[in-house]
Amino acid sequence: RVVAVIMVGGPTKGTRFRPLSLNVPKPLFPLAGQPMVHHHISACRRIPNLAQIYLIGFYEEREFALYVSSISNELRIPVRYLREDKPRGSAGGLYSFRDYIMEDSPAHIVLLNCDVCSSFPLPDMLEAHKKYGGMGTLLVNKVSAESANQFGELVADPETNELLHYTEKPETFVSDLINCGVYIFTPKILIAIEDVLKQKKDRANLRRVSSFEALQSATKAIPADYVRLDQDILSPLAGKKELYTYQTLDFWEQIKTPGMSLRCSGLYLSQFRHTSPHLLASGDGKKGATIVGDVYIHPSAKVHLTAKIGPNVSISANARIGAGARLISCIILDDVEIMENAVVIHSIVGWKSTVGKWSRVQARFSMNGLPILLKITHFHLFHHKKLGTFHILMFLF
Ligand code: GDD
Repeated sequence: RVVAVIMVGGPTKGTRFRPLSLNVPKPLFPLAGQPMVHHHISACRRIPNLAQIYLIGFYEEREFALYVSSISNELRIPVRYLREDKPRGSAGGLYSFRDYIMEDSPAHIVLLNCDVCSSFPLPDMLEAHKKYGGMGTLLVNKVSAESANQFGELVADPETNELLHYTEKPETFVSDLINCGVYIFTPKILIAIEDVLKQKKDRANLRRVSSFEALQSATKAIPADYVRLDQDILSPLAGKKELYTYQTLDFWEQIKTPGMSLRCSGLYLSQFRHTSPHLLASGDGKKGATIVGDVYIHPSAKVHLTAKIGPNVSISANARIGAGARLISCIILDDVEIMENAVVIHSIVGWKSTVGKWSRVQARFSMNGLPILLKITHFHLFHHKKLGTFHILMFLF
């Protein structure tokens, strides 16, 4: 049997995702009309013999209660949210819930970072993992040499795929092959974490003997029960015939900033063509609006038949899109009103905003340029000064 665990973090993590995570926990922010974590859960469902899916995080339980109960019913697979009392690191969090994870005596544990966007080739990865016969298999991807230092960089044996060397976010270039934050482990991983925890506790006890070192360790401020999967587990186990790699040739992105959410929404929309075509709006101009490319429209949204929508547009619940409106590459959140003849391009329009008649909302083109409208009412221009690299351009006619 297989158990899946998705690390969802907590409100003190993912701060670069603000302001989008101020209203809703980042794992529930909609991409292609579905909560971010929904794409992970759908991918897990394709694993044979899946017993349970756990979301582990330090958000309040009530923030996930509704979502986990509805998704469990919808997919008919038990999905549970487990709340950590404090951040324990990606491996520490997994270890603290070992009793739940081992309840079904799984032979394999699938572990996923929540803030990544991928086609999650889990069944193929599981097959490869069984063939390798190691303790763990990491999904890896090639990225540009300039961006590699934002990730765990690694070296793998080209013949056997064994992980030979691993460095987390190194200052000097190691490799353009990076860790995707998607893993399959045998339960032996829990013993490896336990060993690291013991070593850390022993070291902490030793330090207490020397008051100078105690002061030093206090300033470093990493608690003894905080275990990071990458630095504390993957790095020391590399080159020991315990860890192997599986390279994805499909899409993979990390979602740290609001700008990335728009790109990832588009990637998931195009994946729907193969996995869930029923979720895409059809381009039948006779009955509804004109649809261009991949578009998601929530069933409760009202879109005027003279509006033109797409490509890469996702429209959430109760949104109203007026006559003659034109939407290109954007995420329209719940209860938004886009009035007649407004144009929205490459933008995220926040919950309950109204974009006035003949308004134009469009990104200024820069690396991260993406307007996010949080509170705009008709003929009222609100500029969120704290957005830094984000720009709001609105022209009212
Ligand atoms: N539950 C819980 N508790 N989740 C956590 C905790 C924790 O204490 N700490 C981190 N997470 C979750 C985050 O929400 C995220 O989904 C994932 O674990 C990894 O977060 P970080 O530890 O902040 O690492 P990162 O995202 O900067 O980098 C990791 O992922 C990259 C791929 O996206 C590393 O594993 C990199 O090597 C990797 O390239």
